[in-house]
Amino acid sequence: MTNKRLSIDYIEYSSIEEMDEKDRKLVLAAIEAQKGSYSPYSHFQVGAALLLDDGTTILGANQENAAFPAGLCAERTAMFAAGANHPDVGFDTLAIAGADHGILCDNPATPCGGCRQVMAEYQTKSGHPLKIILAGATRILKFSSVNDLLPFIFDSLKTS
Ligand code: THU
Repeated sequence: MTNKRLSIDYIEYSSIEEMDEKDRKLVLAAIEAQKGSYSPYSHFQVGAALLLDDGTTILGANQENAAFPAGLCAERTAMFAAGANHPDVGFDTLAIAGADHGILCDNPATPCGGCRQVMAEYQTKSGHPLKIILAGATRILKFSSVNDLLPFIFDSLKTS
């Protein structure tokens, strides 16, 4: 038996001003994307902005439903829209921003397990790391790969 430890790396910014222009634009796009949120049940508006390898930005926002499990997170609406409309283009960076009753949260909204697994799949499909930015008003986190958000990723192509 061996005890092992995993560590993850990420960058924490205390303000959007500390980020480079490309990332700052993507965070602002994610905040803008919150306007597309349909969240009459949670009143939690999540926006996502996904930068593709060809420079296109795809927006997503959470879509809720009276039958709760039928709704979808912001991240997945953006990733599935990109997958469906730009099937041959890889994913570069995904920025996510949450707001409670219309007010940007101080702390970043962190993606659910299902979204992390979907990110992992598209990262594999892209053939290079997918960067993730989780933006709050007072803390912004940047991960250089989905592996830092989802250790021990399930990948049927590698396990078989
Ligand atoms: N939500 C997202 O869209 N993304 C996240 O990262 C966390 C949660 C949505 C799902 C639901 O519409 C609302 O936020 C409250 O959980």
